[in-house]
Amino acid sequence: MLDQIDPLRDEALAAIAGVADAEALEQARIKYLGSKGAVKGMMAWIKDVPKDQKRDFGQAANAAQKAVQDAFEAKKSALAEGASAPGQTAKGPLLDITEPATAPVLGRRHIISQTIDELIEVFARMGFDHHEGPEVEDDRHNFIALNIPETHPARDPLDNFYLSDPFGPSPTLLRSQTSTVQIRVMEQTPEPPIRIISTGRVYRPDEHDATHYSMFHQVEGLYVDKKVSMVDLKTTLYQFARAMFGQDAEIDLVPSYFPFTEPSAELYVKMDLGKGPEWMEIGGCGMVDPAVFEHVGYDPEAWTGFAFGLGIERLAMRKHAIKDIRWLFENDVRFLRRF
Ligand code: DAH
Repeated sequence: MLDQIDPLRDEALAAIAGVADAEALEQARIKYLGSKGAVKGMMAWIKDVPKDQKRDFGQAANAAQKAVQDAFEAKKSALAEGASAPGQTAKGPLLDITEPATAPVLGRRHIISQTIDELIEVFARMGFDHHEGPEVEDDRHNFIALNIPETHPARDPLDNFYLSDPFGPSPTLLRSQTSTVQIRVMEQTPEPPIRIISTGRVYRPDEHDATHYSMFHQVEGLYVDKKVSMVDLKTTLYQFARAMFGQDAEIDLVPSYFPFTEPSAELYVKMDLGKGPEWMEIGGCGMVDPAVFEHVGYDPEAWTGFAFGLGIERLAMRKHAIKDIRWLFENDVRFLRRF
């Protein structure tokens, strides 16, 4: 037993002498000096040592362990002295002061903000300015001027977040659509032409599930000028679809009804995002109803226009294969980091 002590000690000393960095040193410490390490383990041999040799064995084992421990401490301070930064050792790379600095990454833009930026840019290329309007609205801008009569189901208190008595003299509510901004921009523009988009939040009471949320975002478009036709609308939406979903995108307008447009249509986009072509409904559009022009004091005989309103979550979810709208608002960084 006694003659096994020295070889083990020498092996441990050689190992410690040979390490080049703190991590290797830690590995050596665990191997030899850890609670289950070889040098520590030597002490257990004593039970098999003949009685008259136990004393010598104990002393020799203690000395060996101390020698290894001292070598470890010495190596540890040598490595610490040579290192210029945590993780760097005398043998490892020292600080390279010629290396360009990297800017710290503090965060990133939310996928909805990124989509809004993209929409603003795509429509700016077609000459559309960007406007925003208030989220707290009155019933003139959310309903009346948009030709939505008092009896229309869209005004139902159960389908809106009213902030005051819905049947009182001047109700306010969280806007249910960005079409409100059409009215605001026309009110502020004495004389067309107008070519704007508007983006922002809208609110509707809804149970939350994979495709419904009580707050979401819309992009609204409005073009008013002389002799605007359905062809202008279709061309604009087609160019938009190609910019957003690729050169192979196609669009289709399916007849529909909205109080503020006549005729009205639902906008379908055909896109291929890797799983074969599919059609998806992304919003509504149409030619501005003459009644809307009358509400803002424009002569409906002189002016024509088109309008559209699209769901931004739908666009973003489809484009980025996001399966659940709730993920967009949970702010789980593991999800946000994907974009
Ligand atoms: N405001 C409509 C909605 O929220 C969408 C819409 C449809 C907007 C047709 C328009 C339009 O400007 O012309 O469902």
